Amino acid sequence: MSVTASLHDESRVRVVNRVSDLRSTVAAWRKQDARIALVPTMGALHAGHISLVEAAKRHADRVVMSIFVNPTQFAPNEDFAAYPRRFQEDAQKFSAADGDLVFAPDVAEMYPEGFATTVMPEGPAKAGLEDRFRPTHFAGVATVVAKLLNQCQPDVALFGEKDYQQLKVIARMARDLDLDSEIVGVPTLRDPDGLAMSSRNLYLSIEERARASHLYVALMRCAEDLRAGRDIASAQAAAWKALESAGFVPDYIEARHAETLAPVARRDEGSLRLLAAARLGTTRLIDNIPV
Ligand code: PAF
Repeated sequence: MSVTASLHDESRVRVVNRVSDLRSTVAAWRKQDARIALVPTMGALHAGHISLVEAAKRHADRVVMSIFVNPTQFAPNEDFAAYPRRFQEDAQKFSAADGDLVFAPDVAEMYPEGFATTVMPEGPAKAGLEDRFRPTHFAGVATVVAKLLNQCQPDVALFGEKDYQQLKVIARMARDLDLDSEIVGVPTLRDPDGLAMSSRNLYLSIEERARASHLYVALMRCAEDLRAGRDIASAQAAAWKALESAGFVPDYIEARHAETLAPVARRDEGSLRLLAAARLGTTRLIDNIPV
């Protein structure tokens, strides 16, 4: 049975918590020849998530959003417990964006007793970027996304380009495992000062928030340097220094091959993507732009 529990009364959107209910709803839509889109999220929705819903509506007749804070993609020292959970607000925002169904499983529904299978992605998952600092992260992401794609079996699934390495890991996995859903990346939405929208921006103090856009500024300057012909190592070193001067502790800022995420020595080695991660106080921000 689907539930539109009293908790969700203000939002007209349907909410299901069980895989069986998700499947029966999708099966009914399929009988009407509807195209289905899935927008996987961990909730704490912001305008970036809503832009995924809007993109999904251009690709499909029905839009499902999953909201699940996936424990397996957080390391024990990370922010799983603190991750913002705002289900009621999220359901309202999704409803206002004209979404059709929220799938909000609990941990036991996703990882039942005895759960023993993990997707271990290689390739872009081992590019030496996020994986260097979060070595178990992409196995958790790949496993939960493989499950969500299999549970919903959408025609298309949409992911933000803000998590660019994640997007490439998921696209590779979907191809490798013959998952029958098109994986679509959606451009990053930014605040007016350039800061990429992220649920983790909520962790920033007022003073940190005022400085946070320097990550985007450093990326933009570095990309300009590269386009102007500056060599990659020296452009990256200058961007690193700029981040430090703005009070960040950088983890990486690197130009990579835009598709494989392999390291590149020269500007002419195909299209490039510039990716960065840096800590501001206790908050870790990531961002990327094309070169
Ligand atoms: O990008 C996210 O919010 C998560 O990593 C995802 C794709 C929903 C998997 O939990």
